[in-house]
Amino acid sequence: MPATILKGTIVSAPSLGKLDITEKGYLIAEEGRIKGVFPVLPEQYAGAPVEDYGDALILQSLADLHLHAPQYPMLGMGMDLPLLDWLNAYTFPTEARFADPDYARDIYRRLARELMENGTTRVCMFSSLHREATLILMEELERAGVTGYVGKVNMDRNGIPALQEETEESKRETLLWLEACQDFQHVKPILTPRFTPSCTDGLMDFLGKLAAERGLPVQSHLSENTGEIQWVKELHPDCSQYWETYAKYGLWNDRTLMAHCVWSDERERAAMRAAGVTVVHCADSNQNICSGVAPVRRMLDEGLKVALGSDIAGGDHLNMFDVVAASVRASKARRMQDGWETDFLTVAEGWYLGTSAGAAFFGGRPGFAPGNSLHAIVLDDGDLPQPHPLTPQERLERCVYRRQKNALRAVWSSGRLLFSREK
Ligand code: GUN
Ligand code: FE
Repeated sequence: MPATILKGTIVSAPSLGKLDITEKGYLIAEEGRIKGVFPVLPEQYAGAPVEDYGDALILQSLADLHLHAPQYPMLGMGMDLPLLDWLNAYTFPTEARFADPDYARDIYRRLARELMENGTTRVCMFSSLHREATLILMEELERAGVTGYVGKVNMDRNGIPALQEETEESKRETLLWLEACQDFQHVKPILTPRFTPSCTDGLMDFLGKLAAERGLPVQSHLSENTGEIQWVKELHPDCSQYWETYAKYGLWNDRTLMAHCVWSDERERAAMRAAGVTVVHCADSNQNICSGVAPVRRMLDEGLKVALGSDIAGGDHLNMFDVVAASVRASKARRMQDGWETDFLTVAEGWYLGTSAGAAFFGGRPGFAPGNSLHAIVLDDGDLPQPHPLTPQERLERCVYRRQKNALRAVWSSGRLLFSREK
């Protein structure tokens, strides 16, 4: 297999807030793994074919660590209710349609394609409770070249008649699903109790034991909305805080993703840090369904692991560039609320969260580190008007907020070229 050599303006995020920039540089991978970024072509590659992208930006691809695939059909709709009413009125009926495999196939094929076309090559995704539709989702992601984790949702209480499992049925379906998804190469299973109000203690206990036995990661929701938090207190009077309802069943460790954490106080945040839980910040969703403004800057200052999620369809943007911009904006809203001594996120920091921080959940090192699987995008921005000749850093900043038409020229996922367009 010949080396993959990409030439252009290479920008990556090696640590929070820092950008590595190599103009007219070479990003080299062999067998899908990055060898390094070089300012001149190393001698051993002389004569090898080079994908020369001219002045285009070569960036890390994006990682969306929280989204709901069966909510894709309601993207951009029905955001006039707070979380618990929104779930019952819009979300559950929309997800119930995925009992139909033909419908699932059509929607998931389109979703997988749109993810890839937006430069998102890694995901942690919620499916619905349906086993067959979940396998279809995994197939369609695999076919499109999108990598990551997908979870069949577990929910055995507080659903609607069209969207709820019996406890034993939920356990059985989960085991059958795990059995059936073993052969996927790039898409792996993640256990997915929807959130505490959706799962009985017996089901949570089963999932915690299953995660430990099989070494599976876990994803769920935490402290998104004040009404939800109050409800969890009533359901679990023995737990003083929401996170303890996961911890008590073994669903709380360094392979756990918790979406939102808008209202997590110092004690809950300390519990996340101690366990190595990753917070998935979903700024668009938090604003759309009036959940609150997560203290993302503070979480980072405290040393928590934070990545980003589109959380469609609470979030209205599938494109992770937009989600990065939303996270920067949310941090500024927090600053206006908390006082001017609070820092906001810089664009470089937001970019790190949308790329390197997400990749870390899959074992990637930050930036284009040698040994990483090649996940990269190539972006044109030359058609946009300029106030002055832009530095690579300014070009990235602009792309976070605004892209030209057909900006994406190429997408590489796990070493494979998924998409390529002539200039
Ligand atoms: N909490 C439980 N389910 C959901 C969901 O589908 N979306 C969001 N935003 N929060 C949830
Ligand atoms: Fe969510």
